[in-house]
Amino acid sequence: MFDSGVGGLTVLHELLVDLPEEDYLYLGDTARFPYGKRSRDELAALAIDNADELLARGAKLLVIACNSATAAGLDAVRAHLAAKGSPVSVLGVVTPEAIQAVEATRNGRVGLLATEATVSSDAYGAAIRRIDDMIELTSVACPELASLIQSDEPITHEVLTLVRESCAPLIAADVDTVVLGCTHYPLLAPMFQRVLGRNTRIITSGVAIVRRVEHLLSLRGLRSQRQTEGEYRFLSTGDPAVFSALGTRFLQLPIGEVEQVALPAPADIGAPTAV
Ligand code: DGL
Repeated sequence: MFDSGVGGLTVLHELLVDLPEEDYLYLGDTARFPYGKRSRDELAALAIDNADELLARGAKLLVIACNSATAAGLDAVRAHLAAKGSPVSVLGVVTPEAIQAVEATRNGRVGLLATEATVSSDAYGAAIRRIDDMIELTSVACPELASLIQSDEPITHEVLTLVRESCAPLIAADVDTVVLGCTHYPLLAPMFQRVLGRNTRIITSGVAIVRRVEHLLSLRGLRSQRQTEGEYRFLSTGDPAVFSALGTRFLQLPIGEVEQVALPAPADIGAPTAV
């Protein structure tokens, strides 16, 4: 699985808890973070690089544990693998969250908090319409939030103010269900719940994707047969020490060794361009 940084560790956390007998290899593309301000083409290129690295290391299933990369790059990665003749399936986080949101809402009004790339792609709107075209989706882009969460700074009133500002349009739209459409946001789930009110149902990427991973592995006959815990390992395109230090907060488990991998330098891809 891969993410733009450490946020996807919130997804890995759920998989480690629910499917502990599997082995996991996580690639954090911290050198090219943040993804949320990148264009669709840039995101597709980054997602393909990351996928190739993980496939070369023997992945049996690929999980794009990043909403921005899923929203812009899932189809491109699937097409790339099909063109290579790879039998490996690719799952993204958008459809599982959309399914959970449609199941959870009682008043038909769903909110989305996500990066600019995810909101502008309308991937959630499309996924929700495919399931139920009566649902009304209100989307809010939160351009600064993922970087603030990844920055290891203490949680300040500035973060709370951003959360309040992001939630205000959702409260005004009377949503009863909110999709945290960015892997970093679950770290602030208690803050979102307090601001949105306790009756608002919050949907996160990790919890949503676990069942899909389990079903797909079972359907393909790929479930691990071991009765004991599997292994988990990490690759980082940026500084491994920084990845480990930040990562434990997101994973809520020890990180252990992190191997640095070289993928095209940020300069080759370029700084994030406006979405
Ligand atoms: N992990 C990314 C996502 O889920 C957000 C962080 C970023 O901007 O790279 O969309």
